Amino acid sequence: MATYFIWKDDYKLGFKEIDEQHEYFVSLLNKLYGAIMDFQSQKNLGIILDELAVYAVNHFETEEKYFKDFKFAGAEEHIHEHLMLKEKVLDFKEKFTQDKTKISFELIDFLESWLVDHLDNMDKKYIECFRENGLK
Ligand SMILES: [Fe+2]
Ligand SMILES: [Fe+2]
Repeated sequence: MATYFIWKDDYKLGFKEIDEQHEYFVSLLNKLYGAIMDFQSQKNLGIILDELAVYAVNHFETEEKYFKDFKFAGAEEHIHEHLMLKEKVLDFKEKFTQDKTKISFELIDFLESWLVDHLDNMDKKYIECFRENGLK
């Protein structure tokens, strides 16, 4: 399987459940990338895209549950960003049914920036709050 996104220990936030979800998310991105690159498995693209969308929503819910429990000050801004990411994924799913080739490269760009920007910038903002609340 082609590897595009390399999971770095640097992405770890120090919370087991969340780190595992992020790492699994990266493996899904690689699965998607593999399917895009391998013409034979292009037909799986829609299935993987669905899986990714469902997984992303579940992951956002996990984070948002802790925002609520821990009364995280940056919750509103963060939830708003999750919402935009969700909309974008749904948008890709819709476009995918119309033009299967166009989506591939746009999607890779989007997912890469999602990974780098959201995980590395947004998610890191809640580390202090979650830690203070004893999450491990
Ligand atoms: Fe996250
Ligand atoms: Fe997040």
